[in-house]
Amino acid sequence: MVVKSIPFMTAQRKRADRPAHRVRRDLVDGCGRRIDHLRLSVTSRCDLRCVYCRPDLHVNPPNEPAALTDDQRVELVRFLHERFGLAQVRITGGEPLVYDNLVPLIASIREAMPDLKIAMTTNARLLPLRAKALRRAGLERLNISLDSLRPDRYREITGSHLAEVLAGFEAARDAGFPAPKVNVVALRGINDDEFAELAEWGFARGSEVRFLEAMPIGPVADFNRKAYMPNSAVRSRLGEHFALEPLTDPAGSTARHWFASNDTCRGVIGLISPVSEPFCGGCRRIRVTATGGLYPCLLDSRSSDLSVSWRNGLFDEELAERIILQAVGGKAPQGTIQSTPMINIGG
Ligand code: 5AD
Ligand code: SF4
Repeated sequence: MVVKSIPFMTAQRKRADRPAHRVRRDLVDGCGRRIDHLRLSVTSRCDLRCVYCRPDLHVNPPNEPAALTDDQRVELVRFLHERFGLAQVRITGGEPLVYDNLVPLIASIREAMPDLKIAMTTNARLLPLRAKALRRAGLERLNISLDSLRPDRYREITGSHLAEVLAGFEAARDAGFPAPKVNVVALRGINDDEFAELAEWGFARGSEVRFLEAMPIGPVADFNRKAYMPNSAVRSRLGEHFALEPLTDPAGSTARHWFASNDTCRGVIGLISPVSEPFCGGCRRIRVTATGGLYPCLLDSRSSDLSVSWRNGLFDEELAERIILQAVGGKAPQGTIQSTPMINIGG
């Protein structure tokens, strides 16, 4: 007992425990869903203020004193990978590009886990500064949010400049990333006359264009309920401009895919319909916030604090495992309501 209180000996004990990791087991929730995707938020800060996410300009914490360190993040990802066969991590925010240490963090994850898929969801604004370094660090894929191609409207929705995001998109291509997926949140009366244009813009760049139903999350829930447009309506709008053929969706996909074509262009559309057609049955994700909050479901306000897994600088894997198993065991069969702002949880 005395031995355990000596940090050095604790470190020895942890190292001695490591071989247990070689015994991989699946992380399966109470409904039999295998969880092998992690959304890892690295900051709650963002340089935009999208109306459907965080219209309030004052929510940026100047710093995040309780945030996990990057070493802790790598330890956690490695643990999920080695112990539970984590297959993919998607880096999110807030906006991950405003996180200063993003490139070294991704490089460390890549170095520790050469076979892990690493993707990122971003608003692209700061990509011109960092796309090449991110690519070199081992980031594989990007999803970029783009809700309008009209500068005034883009500014109304996000508070920012369209030209910067378009430059970010080009920077991704120049850095050698595969064509990013384009995320469009469908907003009734706001961008619903632009869907075909957005699709054509994406197709011209080899991108899949995905339309997301606005989810009633956090303080903007009411706004999103009012602006909500079911994806069936998005599909009808697109159907006025394209012939649409259903495609087979990859296993575990959150999107329903359609092949869209007309005389001038063709490409793949993804319809993501968490509200009208929840895809909870195929969900394979958990989320960890910048401060170590573990959310088994985006549309469930319950979370567990993973940050307690580090004591005296050491990662207590047994404790982390208990927290993860308990949270995942209680993962809701279907999402209902989320009171935490999206910007804190990550998309
Ligand atoms: N409903 C739907 N999509 C949202 N996003 C952010 N908040 C919401 C919401 N309430 C989108 C972002 C980003 C992706 C991660 O989620 O635009 O593309
Ligand atoms: Fe920032 Fe993304 Fe939220 Fe927009 S949706 S405010 S880009 S975190």
